[in-house]
Amino acid sequence: MPEDETDHAARTGDAPDTATLLKRNPLQVLVIGAVLAGSAAAFAYVGGFLTPHRLGANHFVDAMETAAGGPHAGFRRAHAKGICIAGHFVGTPQGRGLSTAAVFAGGQVSVSGRFAEAAPDPFAKDSSEAVRSMALRLQPAGAPEWRMAINDTPGLHVSTPQAFYENVVASTPDPATGKPDPAKMQAYLAKHPETVAFLARMKARQLASGFAEDSYNSVDGFIFVAPNGARRLVRWTMQAEEPFATLPPAVRDAKPANYMFDDLLARVAKGPVKWRMIATLAQPGDPNRAAEVWPADRPHIDMGELIIDRVESEATGNCQDINFDPLVLPPGVAPSDDPIPFARSAVYSVSFRRRTAETKAPSAVANQSAGARP
Ligand code: HEM
Repeated sequence: MPEDETDHAARTGDAPDTATLLKRNPLQVLVIGAVLAGSAAAFAYVGGFLTPHRLGANHFVDAMETAAGGPHAGFRRAHAKGICIAGHFVGTPQGRGLSTAAVFAGGQVSVSGRFAEAAPDPFAKDSSEAVRSMALRLQPAGAPEWRMAINDTPGLHVSTPQAFYENVVASTPDPATGKPDPAKMQAYLAKHPETVAFLARMKARQLASGFAEDSYNSVDGFIFVAPNGARRLVRWTMQAEEPFATLPPAVRDAKPANYMFDDLLARVAKGPVKWRMIATLAQPGDPNRAAEVWPADRPHIDMGELIIDRVESEATGNCQDINFDPLVLPPGVAPSDDPIPFARSAVYSVSFRRRTAETKAPSAVANQSAGARP
């Protein structure tokens, strides 16, 4: 099968070249060009390409590997424990009114993706994990694809790549104690009140009992481009249709190591699981910073429904050798001036390149599948 530019990008981690992007959508390239030129220069600057002692994508991944006690060969440098999913998405008329992206056209759009836990340890016990994620590749027939990687957290703990990096460094265990240095963490928190606020939100929230009952947020801001050219700053949520449920900590701690994945396999064996994609529209003055949540009264638009009817272990599923780069965006969706997705795109491709060059041990959740035949 010929390899299209995004598969090439996915396999190599290299961004599609300008000629290919121009072929895909000249207008978008101009827009992205302007945004990327600004941000690429910023990230190239921060990326150490212009000033080598500055933070770069490789530095980032080196620091993440050190914080994790070394890389787990062949696994993602974050969100390492996962399982593949598949299904489809159907857009709504309101969705079409807000974005020209082909996924909202109304027909069934093929979806593949991955549920995971945010930690870098691919064998961590599920009960020790507080952040769960959903990654999706939406592939409308005959139109460019959309990739997203979203978390079940109320915002992010930081708003800049630099602060994310500083958090990784402050969280790195001291070899002498095997624990992060409290003084370093204190100094970090004193400098980053946005992380203190995030931790308070995390403490206040109830943890969903499983992937199926959980809802996932884009956290970062993106631009939706409407048929009349109107550009709206948005964030979105994949809102679970399953009734919300949570487990008392004692019950959760007594659960088997892979209970989240076992429960999902059992659930999908009974039938499809569904989410509604809900876009939240920013109002003038709303901060486009990932650590700052927008007021709850912002307008919400139902963009469509996601139906997941197949789950499969990574070894046989089709989510292992994919980079869910949040900047693989179709016409109708564009990056905003939120700096985080630009750092993510560069860092994910380094993590992708390293892990696909390594021999991978079998995943914790192996040789299992449930749901519709592929
Ligand atoms: C500067 C900020 C961030 C950094 C440095 C970072 C780093 C990483 C890395 C290294 C990976 C593994 C990529 C791979 O090997 O394919 C990853 C995966 C992921 N990240 Fe981030 N991340 C950041 C922010 C975020 C944010 C804001 C979100 C959510 C809104 C997020 C959601 C995810 C998800 C869902 C995955 C797993 C994707 C999959 O299943 O393949 N990350 N991240």
